Amino acid sequence: MRGRFITFEGGEGSGKSSHAARLAERLRGRGIDTVLTREPGGSAGAEIIRHVLLSGAAKPLGAETEAILFAAARDDHVRSTIVPALAKGEWVICDRFIDSTRVYQGSLGDVDPRLIRSLERVTVGEAVPDLTLIMDVPAEIGLARAAKRRGGAAPDRFESETLEFHDRLRHAYAALAKVEPERCVLIDASQPMPQVTDDIWTEVAKRFGPLRAAPARAAVP
Ligand code: TYD
Repeated sequence: MRGRFITFEGGEGSGKSSHAARLAERLRGRGIDTVLTREPGGSAGAEIIRHVLLSGAAKPLGAETEAILFAAARDDHVRSTIVPALAKGEWVICDRFIDSTRVYQGSLGDVDPRLIRSLERVTVGEAVPDLTLIMDVPAEIGLARAAKRRGGAAPDRFESETLEFHDRLRHAYAALAKVEPERCVLIDASQPMPQVTDDIWTEVAKRFGPLRAAPARAAVP
């Protein structure tokens, strides 16, 4: 049976990456083979394109070209990493996927939705996520967290956008969740971390449960 495909989405500093990693660990703890991956990147070819995109080198070429580059990276990632894992029955947890392109390049970059849909059609094919968890956090909180995590390092191409950009991003994600409520769920990521972890697990168990119980630890003699 095809494995499950779960994606995490949200703005900067929304905790996606930490929660994606936690969920993958928890699933593995239940005996489910799980691949944790991310975009842009997640395969050798896509990692090369990631560097071009996040360095800001492609920014002068415009949002349309950036959308095409994200799609090129996705195409390699889907073929090399996601589809083979799902075919083996493994679960795939991906930190960002199609909705990042819809929101960052589509809603905020004003790229024609028809181009976005066409790119999705050729890159994603059958690999449509079964569940998308959208980590919702006010832009000020997310940006402050991202700055703290970075330490003294310079912000990347998208982190350096304005507060207004990140606020619009949050609203665009919320709107997207309304359009596809059967796939997308908003998670209140401003709550304390253990609560967010619980909410995510509740959602996953609701969709895909019952999940096998964690194997009992061997008794220590
Ligand atoms: P990354 O360093 O992975 O950070 P984050 O923790 O925010 O995911 O950076 C990925 C950046 O690329 C992020 O700012 C969002 C952006 N992005 C797009 O604009 N479109 C896309 O399709 C994807 C996958 C990412």
